Amino acid sequence: MRDLFNNNDYLGYKFPEPQYLGAKFIHRGWIAKYIPESADTVLDAFGGSQSVAYMMKQLGKRTLTNDFMSFNNHIGKALVENPSITLSSEDTDILFAENSNPEVFNLMESLFTNLFFTREEAAFADSFRSNVSKLDNPYKQSLALAVMCRSMTRKVTMGHFAHTQALNYAADPARIKRNRSLIRPLKELFLELLPQYNAAVFDNQEQNESYNENVLDLLPRLEGVDLVYFDPPYCNSHADYQSFYHLLETFVEYWKDKQFVNGTKRYEPKRFSGFDKNCEAIDNLRRMFELSQNIPIWLVSYNDRSYPDIDTMKAMIEPYRDVKVERKTYSAGRGGKGSVAGSSEILLICIPK
Ligand SMILES: C[S@@+](CC[C@H](N)C(=O)[O-])C[C@H]1O[C@@H](n2cnc3c(N)ncnc32)[C@H](O)[C@@H]1O
Repeated sequence: MRDLFNNNDYLGYKFPEPQYLGAKFIHRGWIAKYIPESADTVLDAFGGSQSVAYMMKQLGKRTLTNDFMSFNNHIGKALVENPSITLSSEDTDILFAENSNPEVFNLMESLFTNLFFTREEAAFADSFRSNVSKLDNPYKQSLALAVMCRSMTRKVTMGHFAHTQALNYAADPARIKRNRSLIRPLKELFLELLPQYNAAVFDNQEQNESYNENVLDLLPRLEGVDLVYFDPPYCNSHADYQSFYHLLETFVEYWKDKQFVNGTKRYEPKRFSGFDKNCEAIDNLRRMFELSQNIPIWLVSYNDRSYPDIDTMKAMIEPYRDVKVERKTYSAGRGGKGSVAGSSEILLICIPK
């Protein structure tokens, strides 16, 4: 077993702290202990904020990461796959130029004005988005999108978009006192965050890749993976990521062929997850394990508030692998899925029989 924070050239790089439901950022050192030295190619199948995939890259592994949400894939492209490209001040000048096509780029203003942002801030997001394609490199584009998405979550109370109180909260002096980001312009937040993202870009001398697929479609196509980390949404927690982060997905995808529904203006139809409804989750977890038989080691994150219960999970894995349960008990709540004080974070270590 290895200590994440011990002698490796890449461990000095810092992953910009995410604010993402269920992120395992604070558990990544613990998870790293269960990734054996001998595993060369590793997969983070539900990458989310990419904090675990980035840790795998820091361990010097060939890292494959995946998430079915496009905005998460851009973080993966920018910080996991990208070996060297950063954003310069010339690039930010391009991004901050005026809207290059206001007829097309007006979605944020038309949907989210007076809901999550003032008109001015929403229009700024549109003009920024209109200029992303002017950057001459796909990794630059992914970095720009990743940093702007993070800026938008900083500006909204609770860091997600499944509520309609953003502007009320941003007018509340007590909340502003606790979190000044609520009233800071997106441009300022972007410029503050960018150096952290630029500094997080590094080359671990491996061909790392970020995918944007349903895990059930991706698994059958991958070969030569030594270890997979599964951190699926579990139904008793915040399983519906598309309701929480729809605004980021709309910003990145710039949907023109969707409807925008409910008070939050979430896009519709949603992508198919297969893991966000109780009635589908068990079948799809079972299918996921069946499709992973060629990958020797599986690490499965789990929490004692998750659905299905732990015995059901073990019973699904045991036909294929020996399962050992490792626990880490929380001392204090910290926001996000599963981080309730007294509950424990669980890792199922699944090794060949
Ligand atoms: C618990 S989060 C992962 C958090 C991640 N480990 C981190 O540290 O940020 C689960 C992720 O699964 C993604 N997801 C949900 N259904 C998926 C599917 N069918 N295929 C791939 N990703 C999916 C969600 O978008 C979400 O980011």
